[in-house]
This record gives sequence, C-alpha cells and structure tokens, in this order.
Amino acid sequence: MSQFRLEAVQRAFGERVVLNRLSLSIAEGEAVAVVGRSGCGKSTLLRLLAGLDRPDAGRVTIDGTLVMRPRPDVAVVFQEPRLLPWLDVLGNVMVGLGGKGDRGQAREQALRALRRVGLAEAAAKLPKTLSGGMAQRVGIARALVRRPRLLLLDEPFSALDALTKIELQGALDRIRAEDGPALLLVTHDLEEAAALADRVVVLETAPAGIVLDLAIDLPHPRNRRSAAFQAIEARLARALGGADAAEDDPGMERAA
Ligand SMILES: Nc1ncnc2c1ncn2[C@@H]1O[C@H](COP(=O)(O)OP(=O)(O)OP(=O)(O)O)[C@@H](O)[C@H]1O
Ligand SMILES: [Mg+2]
Repeated sequence: MSQFRLEAVQRAFGERVVLNRLSLSIAEGEAVAVVGRSGCGKSTLLRLLAGLDRPDAGRVTIDGTLVMRPRPDVAVVFQEPRLLPWLDVLGNVMVGLGGKGDRGQAREQALRALRRVGLAEAAAKLPKTLSGGMAQRVGIARALVRRPRLLLLDEPFSALDALTKIELQGALDRIRAEDGPALLLVTHDLEEAAALADRVVVLETAPAGIVLDLAIDLPHPRNRRSAAFQAIEARLARALGGADAAEDDPGMERAA
C-alpha cells in the first residue's frame, strides 16, 4: 500500500502552473528517483511532500493524513548542507533531533549517524574546516539521525566531484538497505537515478506530468557497466529527450 501520496496536486506561482494534477505514490521503503529538465517542478514536488509548501488543489498525504507542515518522520537533504557554523559536526547532526530528549542519548545517536556516513572521526570539527563532500555527509547524517520513514533528497550530490559522488551514492544505497526508509531522490544524473532507485519517474516540462514511470528490478549494489543497467539509462535519456523521443519508445508506460 502506498503510504506517501500526491493526489491530483496543482501548484502555480502567479500565472505559471508548475504542477498540473500530478499524482505520485511512494510505498513504505520504496526508493523513487525523479528526473526532469530544470524548472519542471521537481523541487516543488519535494517541498510539498516535506510539508514546506501547500498545494493549490489536490492532496498530499502520509498514511491518509494531510501533510500540513514538516513532520518528524520525514527528513530532507538539500544540495547545500546548510550547516550551523558555530556548532561542530556532532552538534550539527544533533540539530536533526530538534533538541528533544536526553542529551547523552542524543550524542550517541548522532555519533551512530556519523559512523553510517563514514565521518565519526570528524565529530569535533567545525564546518568551515570540512570539504564539500564531508559537509554533505554531515547533512545526510543530520537527516538520518531521527530515523525518518521518508528521506527526501534534492540533488544531494550534484555539487560534488565524481569520486565523492560515487562514494556517497554507495553510502546512501547501504543506508537504505539497512534502515529501509523510503526515498524520494531528485536528480539530474540519470546514472544516479538508475543506480539507486526502485522506480524512476520522468517529469516533462512544466506544467509537469509524468512521461515515464519505470520500475528497475536489478539487485543492489548495481553494476553500472552491465548491459541491463545501460539499457535503463538509455531509456531514461530517451524519455527526457522530449515528447517525440518518448513517443518513439515502444515500451513506454504512461502513468494513469
Ligand atoms: N516560491 C516560488 N515563487 C515563484 N516561482 C517559483 C517558486 N518556486 C518555484 N517557482 C517556479 O516554479 C518552476 C519550478 O521550479 P522548481 O524549483 O520546482 O523546478 P526544478 O524542477 O526543481 O528545477 P531545477 O532542476 O532547476 O532545480 C520554476 O519556473 C520556478 O521558477
Ligand atoms: Mg530543483
């Protein structure tokens, strides 16, 4: 059963309709990647699920309850980790717990989250001394520390160098296997989408509709050199290439 749902969601900014009756469901533990051209409404969709924005029409629900504001069981990772400069790494991760509960216990949880992203030794460092990759690991740990049921990621690795990106994709893949949160991963990187997601949703230009909703049934960690993997990447590229290219695709599944 789908736990996280957008139903016929409408969102416009002034005259500009960005989401036009868009529906999308994510099941418990499911990893869904969303790709689409710049400006097509990916971040808008993510912000709605995060409770950071409200639709003009339609419904955003979790377990049937309307999402009205950010929830403790949903966490967000943005492209920039936005760390607090006056707190050390451990302190920044503890921010994810919202200052509630026992402090010693919070430290333990934060350290555990840092270990998950391979950053336990950096607990006492200040943000200004971190590389971009390390800072983004802290951002991920801060999101993980409260063990979210749904982890929303908006181009989380796009500012990183190629090697760091692959490392962090691997970390996310493992975290997902171990903790099993549902994921919504917004990305411009088709290889990343194919490597991490159970389903990839391709949005068309605003007002965004779904042009392809493709299930990927390959074991993790995925072999990016395999023919099956590369066929999926090629298929995503065709769907992104525009309506003409998508219509040439005989196996295209249009979302209902
Ligand atoms: N708060 C806002 N006020 C006005 N316009 C907005 C607002 N938020 C988004 N938009 C507009 O809505 C459209 C979709 O924006 P959105 O950020 O969702 O796109 P995106 O798919 O995430 O793009 P990108 O890939 O560049 O991040 C854009 O034209 C953007 O300018
Ligand atoms: Mg965006």
